[in-house]
Amino acid sequence: MADNFKDNAELQSINLFAVQEAYKTIRTNVTLSIIKEGCKTIVVTSSLPSEGKTTTSLNLSISLAQAYKKVLLIDCDLRKSKMHKVLGIPNVPGLTNVISGLETLENSARETKYSGLHVLTAGIQVPNPSEVLSSEAMFALLEEMKASYDYIILDTPPLNIVADALPLSRVADGTLIVVKQNQTTHIDLSKAIESLEFVGGKIAGIILNGVETTDNRYYKYKYRLKAYQ
Ligand SMILES: Nc1ncnc2c1ncn2[C@@H]1O[C@H](COP(=O)(O)OP(=O)(O)O)[C@@H](O)[C@H]1O
Ligand SMILES: [Mg+2]
Repeated sequence: MADNFKDNAELQSINLFAVQEAYKTIRTNVTLSIIKEGCKTIVVTSSLPSEGKTTTSLNLSISLAQAYKKVLLIDCDLRKSKMHKVLGIPNVPGLTNVISGLETLENSARETKYSGLHVLTAGIQVPNPSEVLSSEAMFALLEEMKASYDYIILDTPPLNIVADALPLSRVADGTLIVVKQNQTTHIDLSKAIESLEFVGGKIAGIILNGVETTDNRYYKYKYRLKAYQ
């Protein structure tokens, strides 16, 4: 039992190291791309649930913050919000509280243990997530936040299930699509890309998120940059 625990702990530290190293590469590529295009707001999305959107948006945000950038990570998955659970912080007040005007951004954007990274959790559950995310108040908030942060990373629900991410992609400077290795099909991805292109979302790149099974198990991320047209 004790040995198992030790093995798991070792595996975890290998995983974390691999994840952070991989994200440094992603960060370099994303940073180059967004600096070139003046991107500040980046939507992280994917076609289906559990492909790694929340994991990717958090790790990307941490990496950017570690590069001495001021980053605001927003949990825009108002239906199955998870960022607060991953970070072990309360969900309220969060985005929906700020949008409704009942809370200020200053009170709601929480500092994290990562210097430079603030997190705005999803907030109190609302009956109309898509309306909230496509509201003028939401867009105004994003504009307002641009003055205070270098990057605003938006974690969103899956594109092929709900349309919540689309209005955000339309106004964001770039959208990153997460693809899960051995899980996301070509049809799934094509459908997601079609939806994004339909609303004029700029696809900044595709992140391949997968687990290497032949060698040591470790997180594997690849980033493929698609030039803005
Ligand atoms: N590369 C990976 N290898 C193993 N587990 C992963 C990987 N990426 C994500 N996960 C795990 O898969 C689950 C779903 O990931 P999550 O980021 O919440 O997906 P999504 O936000 O797309 O629904 C989580 O438990 C997460 O820890
Ligand atoms: Mg998620």
